[in-house]
Amino acid sequence: MGLFTKKPMHLLLSEAADSEKGMKRTLSAGSLVALGIGAIIGAGLFVRTAAAAAQNAGPSVTLGFIVAAVGCALAGLCYAELSSSIPISGSAYTYTYATMGELLAWIIGWDLILEYAVGAATVGIAWSEYLNNLLVQVLHWKPIAYEWCHSPFEHSIPDAMGMVHTGIINLPALGIVTALSLLLIKGTQESAFVNGLIVITKVSIVILIIILGWGFVNSTNHTPYIPAASIYTDHQGIDHHFGGIMGILGAAGVVFFAFIGFDAVSTAAQETKNPKKAMPIGILGSLAVCTVLYILFAHVLTGLAPVEFFRTDGREASVVAAINKFMPGYAWLGKLVTIAILAGFSSVILVMLLGQSRVFYSMSKDGLLPKSLSTLHPKFHTPYKANLIILILVGAFAAFVPGDIVGDMTSIGTLFAFILVCAAVIILRKTNPELPRQFKTPLVPLVPILGIIVCAAMIFGLGWTNWLRLFVWLAIGFLFYFGYSKKNSKLKD
Ligand code: ALA
Repeated sequence: MGLFTKKPMHLLLSEAADSEKGMKRTLSAGSLVALGIGAIIGAGLFVRTAAAAAQNAGPSVTLGFIVAAVGCALAGLCYAELSSSIPISGSAYTYTYATMGELLAWIIGWDLILEYAVGAATVGIAWSEYLNNLLVQVLHWKPIAYEWCHSPFEHSIPDAMGMVHTGIINLPALGIVTALSLLLIKGTQESAFVNGLIVITKVSIVILIIILGWGFVNSTNHTPYIPAASIYTDHQGIDHHFGGIMGILGAAGVVFFAFIGFDAVSTAAQETKNPKKAMPIGILGSLAVCTVLYILFAHVLTGLAPVEFFRTDGREASVVAAINKFMPGYAWLGKLVTIAILAGFSSVILVMLLGQSRVFYSMSKDGLLPKSLSTLHPKFHTPYKANLIILILVGAFAAFVPGDIVGDMTSIGTLFAFILVCAAVIILRKTNPELPRQFKTPLVPLVPILGIIVCAAMIFGLGWTNWLRLFVWLAIGFLFYFGYSKKNSKLKD
């Protein structure tokens, strides 16, 4: 058996039916939408939006959101078809295994680590930014010193005394990732319940900011709406394409992070009641709600403060910083947002860790990763060993890598995964036309092809340093595949 061995469809479907031996089916369509929104609204909106405005697009970050939403909707339609016809854990990895063979499945599984594990680290770092707001503004304690809440590769803008601080380790990010990994080991059902509560809070907060902030929008901050193309060098000395079309594409790639998560819904297929119906509702429903909220939110945020603010004082915990400075009389809103968003980020991290453990579970079941990663805990029925390995991986990224870098790595890895998912739909229609599909992607191959084009445009916008990072990551994955996975694959027997 070779690199292009495909996992037979009957084997996949019998694994899906074999839920008795595996995980419990407890999630409904409603809980999937909640799971989706729980995964979607987070650091992308509350941290990356301001970063994209500052570094890439100014107010036209809203256009970046539209590009990203179009790419996600197109890829989401493809995800929905695949997850409704292959209702099994593992997301894009599983779909690729069935359609494009083992090597590509490996690439996508490896790539999904960027989406889920590195994504969880990004949100952990965002959590750490807002924690200082909680300590100082809500609890009136001292902030955590810069050194202990930043990676060693970051330094601050000069403080009031002209001092520049350099990070050592991001302890709060490491702490939250550890706490949530332990919660996941206890079981997803309880986690889904807590997630439901958090989702309601999170959506309410976003709506509140849009409504209350609307009155403080200053139209001069929106002029020009699309800044002229130039190069912006940030305080770490990194160059960014700012303004113009490249700015919008770059912003789209950055805020694309804010949409990541709706596909995490598909990784829970094995725990879903009636997955064929529930999956498309979960994926597309959560995507639709978030798109509307994001565009309005970005319009308000960039209308509150000038771009320069998001490059300096408002660089971190940007949303609360903007509320505090530009919405006089609304300090209470800043506090409320801080509390809500810390809970909100936690739910995102939880779903990403869950998604990652399910991908590892599937890959390990197929023999591509060590068998111990699919061992279920005797009492909690969760893949606890996978969770522990993920904790080490995510913890290392959260503690030692800057938020901008892990954020963009997550975006580029996920965009690449989306491209493969779109391709998988076209291929599966040809190779398995008879496969029952509860949900069919409309206008195939047009929709998947457009999905591929829009996602590729965002990858282009993210720039060569991110392409290089993706390339290096995939190269490490190849070494692992040829050193271990190819020899241990179950499909060889
Ligand atoms: N979409 C998720 C977030 O923005 C990953 O935090």
